[in-house]
Amino acid sequence: MTGSGSAVPAIFLDNQGLTELVDTSDEWITTRTGIRQRRLAEAGESLTELSTVASRKAIARAGITPQDLDLIILATSSPDDLFGSACQIQAELAASKAVAFDLTAACSGFVFGLVTAAQYIRTGAYENVLLIGADILSRWVDWQDRGTCILFGDGAGAVVLQANSCDHLLGFELKSDGTQYNYLTLAYSPESTDLIQGVNVGKGNFQPIAMNGKEVYRFAVQKVPEVIDKALFSANLSVDQIDWLLLHQANQRIIDAVRERLNIPEHKVISNLANYGNTSAASIPIALDEAVQEGKIKPGNIIVTAGFGAGLSWGAVIFQWGR
Ligand code: UT7
Repeated sequence: MTGSGSAVPAIFLDNQGLTELVDTSDEWITTRTGIRQRRLAEAGESLTELSTVASRKAIARAGITPQDLDLIILATSSPDDLFGSACQIQAELAASKAVAFDLTAACSGFVFGLVTAAQYIRTGAYENVLLIGADILSRWVDWQDRGTCILFGDGAGAVVLQANSCDHLLGFELKSDGTQYNYLTLAYSPESTDLIQGVNVGKGNFQPIAMNGKEVYRFAVQKVPEVIDKALFSANLSVDQIDWLLLHQANQRIIDAVRERLNIPEHKVISNLANYGNTSAASIPIALDEAVQEGKIKPGNIIVTAGFGAGLSWGAVIFQWGR
């Protein structure tokens, strides 16, 4: 990974503002989640725009041009168009050589995307890959549901992955369990419509995000350390060789519980969810980019990252930052 960038909307909503919408308090949200504020995209703001801004920064910092890109992967669950938004980003960037597609794995999207991108590089098929994690879940939040509306924020993060004589993806472990699908959904609800006699189609709408918070919490705290352990094993690394723990930014209590279970010291944890909330597929690349720009993450550092969420899906990747 040779460059990163991020972009978030200008408008923010703090916990106090949420008390005007639902029966909650700054104290409850802060102590139960660690979140203090989140950025929200305005009606006219698009996922394509946010992703393009983040991508331009990542491409420039990698020292390449959009025309050098072979592949663009957009990890998102909230594209501007259900057919996908990656091609629109390709057009905005004028990355004329790059093939572009969307990848949907909810809050695990960036981690799944990292592994996908690395496979194209490992096979020698592509040299320069742009991976974006972006979501505007505010479009799909039920603003009357205090169990979910306090959590989510909008944003985009991007990284450039480049072929290298030495492989910087050191280990990974990805998992899915569709039997637990119901715990976190943004589901299409069909309404039966008669076209002509005997021909009936389902013409409906997507329903807002619905979550069983307790179950998702339990799942994350149990499963994330397991995949991290497996990824460490496949990388032949011990936990003390890790420089940074960078988890999907869903809840500070989840981050703390995973860190404690793995016995990783607190100073190795990257966390910025207080300012952005849970930005779904964007949370890891936004936090990564901030830590790189602040000079925390340095070339050669070994980072363990893990995503988890709807699907249910979860996974961990261990990688080395820089050239
Ligand atoms: O990115 C996808 C992954 N998603 C996640 O990782 C989410 C995982 N889950 C969580 O982060 C937590 O479950 C939540 C933050 C969503 C909820 O925290 P919790 O500690 O599990 O709270 P709870 O649902 O057990 O609710 C405890 C109490 C309940 O009241 P009673 O029944 O004890 O009287 C809730 O009704 O807190 C109440 N409550 C609230 N109170 C004030 C629930 N939401 C709120 C709220 N403000 N926003």
